[in-house]
Amino acid sequence: DMNGGTDIARRAIHVCAACHGEGGRSASAAYPSLAGQPVQYTARQLKDFRAQQRAEADNKAYMWGVSALLDDDTIQALAEYYAVQAPAPGRARGPDRLLKEGRRLFEDGVPGSGIRACAGCHGERAEGAAGFPRLAGQHADYLERQLKGFSTRLRPHGVLMRAETAGMSAQQMKAVAAYLQSL
Ligand code: HEM
Ligand code: HEM
Repeated sequence: DMNGGTDIARRAIHVCAACHGEGGRSASAAYPSLAGQPVQYTARQLKDFRAQQRAEADNKAYMWGVSALLDDDTIQALAEYYAVQAPAPGRARGPDRLLKEGRRLFEDGVPGSGIRACAGCHGERAEGAAGFPRLAGQHADYLERQLKGFSTRLRPHGVLMRAETAGMSAQQMKAVAAYLQSL
């Protein structure tokens, strides 16, 4: 159900689907899935794009233009639409060994290293809540790209993740991303 920014949102969804897939279940790691993301998270990202503040190259190239003309009501309606779409199902990725390593990192972090349990913010099943994005079933390559990118400070609301990823190795990023895609 969409009120307010309804009409524009209903039409915009077809534009979004061209990249993010039907119902926000994207077929390519070039585009993140949006299905099942908490309303607050998606709305925040769209406002960050519109303010030209979330500035990774791909977002600058695609999402700045897409979001420029969206008003707050339309952003809210889009975020509400994606939040209730069935999430993309998990897809196994890589050997069991890698997935186990990723699971351990997700559930426990690395005690003593400044890497906290991801589950503490993103949820036990990586389902996300409020401003914390859902990570379950997201494309591993997209997740890995974000983990590597937080140090570049191109995400205005990436402060917590900048601290979280500062002590992570490339191998740990790969493992946790593979695990999350499999959920
Ligand atoms: C990223 C929403 C249209 C390409 C994102 C994100 C959101 C979003 C919320 C960030 C996801 C996250 O942080 O997990 C939308 C909406 C659209 C739309 C609501 C329609 C109004 C499009 C279109 C394209 C596109 C038409 C392609 C032409 C991308 C790319 C990224 C992105 C390339 C980021 C990839 C990366 O950082 O690696 N979009 N999008 N989007 N979107 Fe869109
Ligand atoms: C965003 C992974 C721990 C808070 C993200 C994103 C990834 C990620 C991949 C970007 C998602 C997207 O673009 O769709 C992880 C992993 C963790 C971890 C693998 C454990 C190693 C944490 C912890 C917190 C946290 C402990 C809270 C203290 C956040 C927040 C965002 C985020 C607030 C959204 C940032 C924004 O709006 O730009 N996380 N995370 N994360 N994470 Fe984490």
